[in-house]
Amino acid sequence: MNMDGKKFTILDFKRKKEAGDKITMLTAYDCPMAELIDQAGVDAILVGDSVGMVLLGYESTARVTMEEMIHHSRAVRRGTRNAFLVGDMPFMSYQAGDEEAVRNAGRFVKEAGCDAVKLEGGREICPRVEAILSAGIPVLGHIGLTPQSVTRLGGYRVQGRDAESAARIMKDAVFLESAGCFAVVLECVPRELARRITGKLRIPTIGIGAGSHCDGQVLVTHDIIGYFDKFLPKFVKQYTNVGEKILEAVTRFKEETTSGAFPDDGHSFTS
Ligand code: KIV
Repeated sequence: MNMDGKKFTILDFKRKKEAGDKITMLTAYDCPMAELIDQAGVDAILVGDSVGMVLLGYESTARVTMEEMIHHSRAVRRGTRNAFLVGDMPFMSYQAGDEEAVRNAGRFVKEAGCDAVKLEGGREICPRVEAILSAGIPVLGHIGLTPQSVTRLGGYRVQGRDAESAARIMKDAVFLESAGCFAVVLECVPRELARRITGKLRIPTIGIGAGSHCDGQVLVTHDIIGYFDKFLPKFVKQYTNVGEKILEAVTRFKEETTSGAFPDDGHSFTS
């Protein structure tokens, strides 16, 4: 936690795991949201490629481009003081080869000021993780449900339910730790599997739909504030509904403007 005004660093992830303190992470795509999350003392901010579905209206995250990620990451950087900032590498920015992966990871650091990047995938992306790390850029892993591969997975479904796929996810987690990831996101896996992975790894697990045994939790901020209503996964807890409040405000603006009640004297210049 960084409410004491200290920047959360990569060392704090491991320190928190060892101390048994939970890590907090939320997504942001713009400067004002980053300021609020930072002000609340959340440890880390992820500029997720979920921006594609949540803000840009795409059907899936696979459509998101590097330019869009850099644009949003730069805005989030400007609103972030103490939180650790992670940029999410979009689909096909790292899959084709090590060189391209390093170049694109470098853009997140150099152009957007991110502290680290996140990559989806298990053992198959370990060479990319190592290449990016050797350029001095920390990498956050992401396994379980990996939305960039949703077509191959057959939809947004819980992963690791049977023994074979659970064993594969466990192995992927170990591979990512050996490749040098500083932490790994576990998305949509049964909590018992997340508990076993968390117990096995020395690096922290950050769960999203992976139960309470993970070393930390990450959620999409727009989900927990009710600002994205296309679907609400079972694992999301909605703490408020700003969507309703916005609708109420804009409806009243329309009504008052139409009726002539706005602008009144208090909202006009008399001279
Ligand atoms: O893109 C994103 O927001 C993510 C989180 C849900 C982990 O990858």
